[in-house]
Amino acid sequence: MTAEPLVIFTPSGRRGRFPEGTTVLDAARKLGVDIDSVCGGRGICGRCQVQQSVGEFAKHGIVSSPDHLSPIGSMETEYRSEKGLADDRRLSCAAHLRGDVVIDVPPESQVYRQVVRKGLDVREFHLDPVVRLHYVEVEPPRLASPSGDLVRLQEALEREWDLHDLDADLAVIRALQPALEAGKYGVTVAVHDRRTITAIWPGLHERVHGVAIDVGSTTIAGHLADLGDGSVLASAGVMNPQIRFGEDLMSRVSYAMMNPGGSGEMTTAVRSALNGLLAQLANKAGIKRDVILELAIVGNPIMHHLLLGIDPIPLGSAPFALATDRAVTVRASELDLVTNPGARAYVLPCIAGHVGADTAGVILAEAPHRSTSVELVVDVGTNAEIVLGNRDFLLAASSPTGPAFEGAQISSGQRAAPGAIERVRIARDTLEPRFRVIGSEIWSDEPGFAEATVDTGITGICGSGIVEVIAELFLAGVITPDGIIDGSLAARTPRVVGEGRTFSYVLHDQSESGRPRIAVTQNDVRAIQLAKAALYAGARLLMDHAGIDTVDEVRLAGAFGRVLGLIPDAPLDRVKAAGNAAGTGALIALLSGAARREIEAVVRRVEKIETAVEPRFQEHFVEAMAFPHRTAPSTHLAQVTELPARPAAHSGAARTDRGGRRRRPVGVAAEEER
Ligand code: FES
Repeated sequence: MTAEPLVIFTPSGRRGRFPEGTTVLDAARKLGVDIDSVCGGRGICGRCQVQQSVGEFAKHGIVSSPDHLSPIGSMETEYRSEKGLADDRRLSCAAHLRGDVVIDVPPESQVYRQVVRKGLDVREFHLDPVVRLHYVEVEPPRLASPSGDLVRLQEALEREWDLHDLDADLAVIRALQPALEAGKYGVTVAVHDRRTITAIWPGLHERVHGVAIDVGSTTIAGHLADLGDGSVLASAGVMNPQIRFGEDLMSRVSYAMMNPGGSGEMTTAVRSALNGLLAQLANKAGIKRDVILELAIVGNPIMHHLLLGIDPIPLGSAPFALATDRAVTVRASELDLVTNPGARAYVLPCIAGHVGADTAGVILAEAPHRSTSVELVVDVGTNAEIVLGNRDFLLAASSPTGPAFEGAQISSGQRAAPGAIERVRIARDTLEPRFRVIGSEIWSDEPGFAEATVDTGITGICGSGIVEVIAELFLAGVITPDGIIDGSLAARTPRVVGEGRTFSYVLHDQSESGRPRIAVTQNDVRAIQLAKAALYAGARLLMDHAGIDTVDEVRLAGAFGRVLGLIPDAPLDRVKAAGNAAGTGALIALLSGAARREIEAVVRRVEKIETAVEPRFQEHFVEAMAFPHRTAPSTHLAQVTELPARPAAHSGAARTDRGGRRRRPVGVAAEEER
């Protein structure tokens, strides 16, 4: 008796023998090989494509020849003519085994494929969709067995997809009969978390979408993704309209305390901004909002509570009690969000009263809990989320940096948008600037700059731009270590101008053409000093708690790319940009149920540090107000950056300060070479 055909799947390496005539998809299912399918093997969704590897495979001891699969039949011919199928591809649900074969499953045919997204600074992770689509053919009703349509749908899902005891949303039950009729009893359903039928369409429906949202105090950012393959189709940001109730978090809590109904007003404002964002994203991606089936949301505790309609007042004073520190899943409609009526919103868990779901997002994105080396992860926004640790310990804090790092409360500040100055260099000898704006790669002193910026204009300075220009002004000696714009330089350059009792540095003057003059004022420097001190002090506080003076790796996320000096000194090759880590964490949670379970477990072992009640925070804050720091050494930065000559009072080589420690010139500098 000849042996049954052997099928070997790559890249999984799984193998098994099956009777001749078995479909490749059935063999894969029996071996637990991950092959996608929406249509359940009917040859209409095309998700199950595979490729036969042809030839002699000595290491497996088999020959995989083309005639070991059944020839292309009517199902594949029809699919090919309707939707297109590459010559080397087969539909695994239509190809039958006739002999030994090696079958390659390409990444796009895998449900749990690895997601790699370089442009978005997203670490690799496995797609594990929480919402899955399933096409089924439902038995038509019969007089003899008068069961309801829902029961027959549930039976079909059990039979074909091994989905048991599913619930169904009322909206689905309402739409069921028209869908069955229109689809001639063939319908596609969306099933959430293998538990609930949340949407239904007649016939085959192939794509559903989700949106990951980072609700910041100043800006709200979102990514719209295809839940089937994890691709990001659109990204957008809007301002948080709650800003009119208070610039920072505590002033919003005060607003809620002082004004009856104030909390509800802020809830309404943020929800309407989210609806605007959803509309903008759907428009950009060319989809309708009713195919958005899932949301994943992060935000600091106060944004979290306000979005969910929970009173934020207890978060305003010790003991900063959260209403819940667990992940929350609700219907998007309960948050007044306009999406598919069956859409669910998953809100990541908060960690403590000042350490929110945004920090959970940062942890998920940067995964310090998987690292053997000690990582410091900083996500800069109106609050800086700071996480320190490795796989043995994790500490987290949130530090109130204010909105300056996002370009708010800065005289020429704006959010990061085309036309905003984002890179700046200032010549040490002439004190003349050159800069680059978002939307153009050309520096302002290079040919073609005027033409390249004609559409966007030069409109202001974004958060990373303001930090960079202040770093450069410090390095050029225009700003003193105490953060004063040196007025004596007005004699040397017309760019330093008096404004009452203080001075400003004019970065770009286009007032003659009626457009804004872009300058850095003394108040701007002060705002950045305060923000930087809060950031530094938060990071340093966590290091104190961990009993360490240095970290192995730094991930600096948020508005910044390459700006240093905001954080404790570290080897510069170990300092990496991390994009918007909180938003990235939301995206990972959107696309992976496994990631949700992971972060829900990890946050339980995070030690929370409340900066507001730590006396050491104030001490670190005061020290870090100086540019770049009053006492801490910056050995690593000094190795790569030419630091300015200091006035005697600040040249640290010979002096000691009150504490007797040597002062060093510590740079606030751009990592990039000049
Ligand atoms: S499973 Fe849908 S085409 Fe094969």
